[in-house]
Parts: sequence; C-alpha cells; structure tokens
Amino acid sequence: MKIIITGGAGFIGGNFCHYMVKKYPEDQMICIDKLTYAGNMETLAPVLDKDNFTFYKADISDREAIDEIFQKEQPDIIVNFAAESHVDRSILDPEVFLRTNIIGTGVMLDACRKYGIKRYHQVSTDEVYGDLPLDRPDLFFTEETPIHTSSPYSASKASADLLVQAYARTYKLPCTISRCSNNYGPYHFPEKFIPLTIANVLNDKKIPVYGKGENVRDWLYVEDHCRAIDLIIRKGREGEVYNIGGHNERTNLEVVKTVLKELGKGEDFISYVTDRPGHDMRYAIDPTKIHKELGWLPETTFDEGIKRTVKWYLENREWWEHIISGDYQNYYDTMYKNRG
Ligand code: NAD
Ligand code: DAU
Repeated sequence: MKIIITGGAGFIGGNFCHYMVKKYPEDQMICIDKLTYAGNMETLAPVLDKDNFTFYKADISDREAIDEIFQKEQPDIIVNFAAESHVDRSILDPEVFLRTNIIGTGVMLDACRKYGIKRYHQVSTDEVYGDLPLDRPDLFFTEETPIHTSSPYSASKASADLLVQAYARTYKLPCTISRCSNNYGPYHFPEKFIPLTIANVLNDKKIPVYGKGENVRDWLYVEDHCRAIDLIIRKGREGEVYNIGGHNERTNLEVVKTVLKELGKGEDFISYVTDRPGHDMRYAIDPTKIHKELGWLPETTFDEGIKRTVKWYLENREWWEHIISGDYQNYYDTMYKNRG
C-alpha cells in the first residue's frame, strides 16, 4: 500500500509519519510538504533514511507538481494534513489560508479523481463547529453540530470540509473527514500555546495569556490523534465524519499552571495580554462515534502527556531553539508587541 501524507514536516503530520513508518514497514509512506515556516526537515529526521519513506518538497496547491507525484507514485491512500494552521496568523493575513487550505484541498481532490484512490482522508478540526458557552458544560460538539466558524483559519478549514463532502457525493470519491480537538506533544511549533509556554519559561520570558485565561480547550496527546486517523483510513466508513477528542477540557490558565508546576516554576511567569479578536470560548468534543464504531479511546492522560512533552522540549532544545532564532522572532515581535 502507498500512502501519501501531506504536511508531514509539520507537527501532527510529522508525528503521523513517525508512527506509520514504524507500524507498517510493508507500506510505503510518501510525504509531500511545501516546507513553509511551519515545516521542518529536522522533524522528519527519525524517518528520512527508512526504506519505506519518501519525501517530496511541493505545494499542494500546485496542480502540476501534485499531478506529477500522483502519476509517478500511483498512491492508494491520501491523508491531507497540509494546512496553514495558526489562528493568530490567519487574523493577521488570511490569504495564504484560502490558497493552501481551500485551493490546496481542491487540487488534492482532483488528483484523487484523476488517478483513482482507495481513500482520501481530510484532517479537519473541531474549530469548524465554532465555540460553546462556558456556562453550558453539558454541551459538546457531535458530528451533527452545524458548521459555524469564527476565524479565517476555521472558515478555510470548513470550506475544505464542504469541498470534500461535495466530491464524495458528486464524484463518489471515497472520502473520510476527522475533526480533532487541540493536540500537544513533541515537535509542536512554538507559536502554539503549550510549546510557547514551555519555550518562554525555559528562556526566562513571561507567558502571554490572552484575556482572562478562562477559554477552554479539549487537549489530546498527538499520538492518540495519529492512532485515530490510522483507524479511520483502514476501518472508517466512506463518506463519514469522525470527531476525535478525549474529554480533556482545561482552561488556558489551568494548562499554564500544569506546565509551570512540571517545570518547577512559579505563577509570576503569567502575564495577561489583550485578547485574540473573535476568541472562541470553549471547545469540547463528543467522541462517542469513533469509540463505538472503531473502538478508539485516548491512551495518554493530560498529566502524563504534559510530563512527556516537557521532557521532550528539555531534551530537544536544539530543535525548537533553531526555530525561534529565525524568522519566527519577527512574527513574535509583531504579534505580541504593544499587547499589554
Ligand atoms: P503545522 O502548521 O504544524 O504543519 C503544517 C504543515 O503543512 C507544515 O509542515 C507546512 O510546511 C505544511 N504546508 C503548509 N502549506 C502547505 C502547502 N501549500 N503545501 C504543502 N505543505 C504545506 O500544523 P499541525 O498543527 O500539524 O496541523 C496539521 C493539520 O491538522 C492541519 O490540517 C490542521 O488544521 C489540523 N488540526 C490541527 C490541530 C492542532 O491542535 N494542531 C487540531 C486539529 C486539527
Ligand atoms: O482545536 C483545534 C485547533 O487547535 C487546531 O485546528 C489549530 O490548528 C490549532 O492551532 C489549535 O487552535 P487554538 O487557537 O485553540 O490553539 P493555540 O495554541 O493558538 O491557542 C490555544 C489557546 O491558548 C487559545 O484559547 C488561545 C490561547 N493563547 C494562545 C497563544 C498562542 C494564549 O492565551 N496565548 C498565546 O500566546
């Protein structure tokens, strides 16, 4: 079996490449990545020299490049992780989100139609459902929850989902979609909340907490997400959407305190800054469908996952210090200057 993994030099795609290369030595993993600011060949170092791994540097919205790869590789399964993924960047400059997340998905779907595939899987997000109020802990996102987006990022991801569903219905393309909650773990780009918190503390910098820090996210250790996608591409029903999440809700303040405790540091690192515009209040996934149909359950608790993640950032300083010493510093200055 030949499996194309787009966005494999990023956080979740990278972890998925590691997981699949190891678990299925008889299958070929073919990674396509544009290597944007978020893509990093060092993330792929553990698999680069493996016989069942191939890498192509290409843009998923480049029709010719994608066509050439499909023609050469004749893949069976496509897992599309490639995306612009950071909400704050989408607020600063939405355009590239439309190009990669919408046009790029369309190009991948067209290649799948042309060459015929066994399965196209779209890695989507719980953000397509919008947010839930803090005072209704009884409410959760199910697969039936209406799409209701807040940021240019989530609007672009929702558009991609609708395209996938249109190709599934109109062209009978064998597709699945997964909508996962917030991931954390090794190789997470330090612009995102948990790795930013760890990197700032290790560099003796304050942690910028948006608003009052009361927003809630439903955290999942990245390997649990990888296992879920593997199950869906092999056993999930064509045309279906699967929510992925582990009932692991935490306020941002709780997250920061857990990380600070793990690092043996005090709460004086916390600095409240101006809120994110349109900031979603609460995400919470109901994972009943994937549990009942595919037997998936998360294996890593939040406390254990944070321990492993902090240990990884302590042991892999070179990986993230390399990143934050480059262009990322300009982004950080633009995003956080004059913020309070
Ligand atoms: P990431 O930003 O860490 O990685 C994205 C990868 O895609 C990078 O390697 C980048 O180089 C590549 N890429 C970007 N534009 C590309 C293009 N035009 N062509 C080819 N490659 C391109 O993102 P992530 O956090 O690993 O997220 C991966 C996917 O999972 C995304 O689709 C995201 O929407 C989804 N998702 C993320 C989370 C989360 O918590 N991080 C949760 C649910 C869903
Ligand atoms: O829910 C899934 C989504 O999770 C994915 O689709 C996105 O790709 C991924 O980036 C993530 O989006 P969030 O906006 O939830 O993640 P982020 O790490 O940017 O922020 C998490 C929470 O922390 C959010 O409430 C905003 C807050 N925050 C974030 C940053 C970067 C801060 O308080 N301070 C910060 O500096």
